[in-house]
Amino acid sequence: MCGIVGYIGLKDAYPIVIKGLKRLEYRGYDSAGIALFDGNNLEVTKTKGKVADLERVALEKNSKKGSIGIGHTRWATHGVPNDVNSHPHYSNSEDLVIIHNGIIENYEPLKKELVARGYEFKSDTDTEVLINLIEDVQINEKVSLEKAVQIALNQAIGAYAIAVFDKRQENELIVARLGSPLAIGVGENEFFIASDASPFIEYTSDAIYLEDGEMAKISLKEGVVVSKIKDGVAVDPYIQKLKINLEQIEKGGFDHFMLKEIYEQPHAITDTYRGRLLANEGVIKMAGIDDNIDKFVNAKRIIIVACGTSWHAGLVAEYIFEEFSRIPVEVEYASEFRYRNPIINKDDILIAISQSGETADTMAAIKLAKQRGAFVFGVCNVVGSSISRESHAGAYTHAGPEIGVASTKAFTTQITVLALMALRIAKQKGSIANSQYHYLLHEMEQIPSKVEKVLEQNDAIEKVAEAYKDSDNCLYLGRGFNFPVALEGALKLKEISYIHAEGYPAAEMKHGPIALIDEQMPVVVIATKKGHYEKVVSNIQEIKSRKGKVIGIVTEGDVTVKGLADHVIEVPETLEPFTPLLTTIPLQLLSYHIAVKLGKNVDQPRNLAKSVTVE
Ligand code: F6R
Repeated sequence: MCGIVGYIGLKDAYPIVIKGLKRLEYRGYDSAGIALFDGNNLEVTKTKGKVADLERVALEKNSKKGSIGIGHTRWATHGVPNDVNSHPHYSNSEDLVIIHNGIIENYEPLKKELVARGYEFKSDTDTEVLINLIEDVQINEKVSLEKAVQIALNQAIGAYAIAVFDKRQENELIVARLGSPLAIGVGENEFFIASDASPFIEYTSDAIYLEDGEMAKISLKEGVVVSKIKDGVAVDPYIQKLKINLEQIEKGGFDHFMLKEIYEQPHAITDTYRGRLLANEGVIKMAGIDDNIDKFVNAKRIIIVACGTSWHAGLVAEYIFEEFSRIPVEVEYASEFRYRNPIINKDDILIAISQSGETADTMAAIKLAKQRGAFVFGVCNVVGSSISRESHAGAYTHAGPEIGVASTKAFTTQITVLALMALRIAKQKGSIANSQYHYLLHEMEQIPSKVEKVLEQNDAIEKVAEAYKDSDNCLYLGRGFNFPVALEGALKLKEISYIHAEGYPAAEMKHGPIALIDEQMPVVVIATKKGHYEKVVSNIQEIKSRKGKVIGIVTEGDVTVKGLADHVIEVPETLEPFTPLLTTIPLQLLSYHIAVKLGKNVDQPRNLAKSVTVE
């Protein structure tokens, strides 16, 4: 949560930092701020609201000068979103400024000590405590900014990615990370810092990703000097060549990132299996699995940990793994797993699923499992992310950058990777019939063109959205492989349209939710052929006899549900385990259109952030 950006070079920092903040707004968007140094003055401009509001305030103040700048877009953790709590924060002397993504957990005792020593605080934030702690160390120990940051961070408990600037050491920026991401863009006579590479990708493709527990001094004279926060020991920075391009992180003619990302799914799924799925040869190649195949074949149990949409992908994977690989699977909310006392045996494998690769609870679950001896396999989208690095092995989803806060292509590509894994292991174990294995491989190759066909129904789905946009509640029902899709459809609707929605296994309806059904209640029912079709048809009849409105997601050519439902959206026929890759698409589009019609901010829904790096 929170996005940080910085620039040190020869150009004007303001436009670079502002543009960078706009790219990072998906990480938080309740307030924004910038600090600029023009050689004399260190000026902070900040406001509640979005980066566009910050631009307005900066224009009114005419404060845009300087070739060193740091900026922040916030998702509040300590203190309500208001001007004062926005970053950057000055130290008491106003010589230092800081931007911070993360939480300093022991800020209260630190603050008490500082108050006792005469420090005053304007905001309620933990960040203002940290910058004054750094100033206090500088004053008392008479050390450089770099050393003061190092000493102060050794007193802080929590998570952070920070950038600090001291106007008396005007040629350098100090950055550090622990638990929150931080990338440094290395250009010619200029350096950038950011929570991810998107703010600087148009200027340089050379990046250094700081590891947890590392800090760096960045200056035009010496470049990037990396060291360990713990003891100041120097570290050789590794410069990575980035492969993403500008087009991938822009809207490309779509009104919203979410819509662009929904439409990218055929391509994203192809990218996910490219080079891995060799259907004609009957081979699945996945380095992370191939290198550890014995562990998977002999695994007594797979534990999947994830949050939100990634957790839903984990539930689909549970069905697929158990069906083909015949390994018992448990799917856990990472936040629950880490705070109980889970039983982890040495032959257990923990699969962590995370689009961002930065989710704090998932990261903590991995660490716990590693401590107890489990082998950890990461399924992440963001290359080089913390979870991918913390895992023993892994597979990337290759979905490309997902900017819309509501996850779409991350979900379908996670299912694709997990299905490939399950089939690869099943083949090795001999737990799948050869003919079925080959059939599944060939069918997976057809999925992208089938997703294209679902997308062609966008206009019809928009009409359904028009009919139900004013509903207060909505139910989503599915069975088997499509039960998690019902959960995901409900999550998509509530997070971007703020309409209350719940997903249930269809058969559970009669154990409670049926009481909610009346003529006002839309019920989205996934009723594709094969997946307990007749049972689901009975569920639809139960809803209709109570006057509920049914939106059926059906297989092409269906007549039975068409005769019963108020609306149907058809998806092409596929093998049952792959149906979630198709049935999810209309639910994404339905939520999208409802939210747009209600005038909601689709890409940046209230209270949410793309990357949840707080616990
Ligand atoms: C929903 C959504 C969230 C994330 C969750 C986990 O659309 O985006 O529920 O799925 O916060 O995030 P990752 O996958 O980055 O760990």
